[in-house]
Amino acid sequence: MFSRKVEKPLPPVATLPVRRTAQTEENQTAGVLLGKDTYWNPETLPNAHIVCIGASGSGKTQTLKGICFALRTIYIGSQKILIDFHGDQDIAGEMVYPLHMASPWGINPLTVNLDPEGGGPNLQAIAVAAVLKKSLQMGPNQEGMLLDVIGTCYRQQGIVQDDQATWKREAPNFAHIEAELVARIEEGCKESQRLKLKLAATFQYGVFSRSQFPMDAKHIRVDLHKLPPAIQSIAAESLAKQLMDNHRLLGEMAGKIPRTFLFIDEAKEMPKGTGSACDRIIADGRKYGLALVLASQSERHLSADVIGNSSTKLVLPVDQTEVSKVGKKFRFAEVRVAGLRPLQALCRLGTDAKQVEIVPYYERLQ
Ligand SMILES: Nc1ncnc2c1ncn2[C@@H]1O[C@H](COP(=O)(O)OP(=O)(O)O)[C@@H](O)[C@H]1O
Ligand SMILES: [Mg+2]
Repeated sequence: MFSRKVEKPLPPVATLPVRRTAQTEENQTAGVLLGKDTYWNPETLPNAHIVCIGASGSGKTQTLKGICFALRTIYIGSQKILIDFHGDQDIAGEMVYPLHMASPWGINPLTVNLDPEGGGPNLQAIAVAAVLKKSLQMGPNQEGMLLDVIGTCYRQQGIVQDDQATWKREAPNFAHIEAELVARIEEGCKESQRLKLKLAATFQYGVFSRSQFPMDAKHIRVDLHKLPPAIQSIAAESLAKQLMDNHRLLGEMAGKIPRTFLFIDEAKEMPKGTGSACDRIIADGRKYGLALVLASQSERHLSADVIGNSSTKLVLPVDQTEVSKVGKKFRFAEVRVAGLRPLQALCRLGTDAKQVEIVPYYERLQ
């Protein structure tokens, strides 16, 4: 058998013909310039979600950064939030919050969703236990125990499901979970000892035990690249879930320009499937003004719902082992997918399909 080399980078674009036109003040009303004569305009599309696929070196990062950079001047009122797994999503004018062991910032997965119809500490505890179970590969017993520990932590803060007024109290964080486990260990609970061990790295990095960074800047990058994959996954999923919950609370939108664009490059570490934050945003985000811009190296990292429900699909060159599947899933002829070069994309914008020479971020900056 041949081994899969999905990570193998493509050759650089330096030798490719130069594209391009520039995003000018005059053509801003047409939307975000993707490439010559091709604009991306959420007002003309059923939704503002974008899904992008391409091998390493195909141009995903440059494409996403280019779109985000253009959005800064076109949709000034919308917020842009980037979950950065690789630490390469830096864009001029951003506000960056690096999360790592020594950072002052964190994310609190236990922040209670205040929605009277789908929120409260009990559902939050279930959601957090499910994410931890998946990311840290826990068994059902450990998940059950964690659920009980989280419930105790909420009660200790005076937060109870039956009294909505208590949901606004300061949520416990992972330091409270750790303290509760220590108390149970001291009482002789062996299972608590094992659970504490399972969560050791999660406690050690401290990112879930600190205050959450402020969310008021218009363009925020959350840099997760110094964290191990399991912790990245918990942090990213918690943040995406919080965004979806908060947008629901803001209520349905009349217009088509999103309140917020959430960019996730290299989405491999995001949980997928029913109930995951990405699937929820893809299904419900449009109504509440939350758009998802997602990129990944492999179609295996993207759920069928995410691909199917994004009005915009961008196919950059993919690994040759993926050509056939990507062609089918994104509905482009295999031969066209196979013929792509870096920064050349097959674009599906609603019902339109065309090949575009993408204007990368590094050219927009000039
Ligand atoms: N500043 C730059 N100047 C010229 N070429 C660049 C620059 N940055 C990236 N590239 C090229 O752009 C292409 C796409 O890179 P990138 O978007 O990082 O790919 P991916 O994110 O899919 O791995 C690569 O061929 C890379 O060599
Ligand atoms: Mg990249």
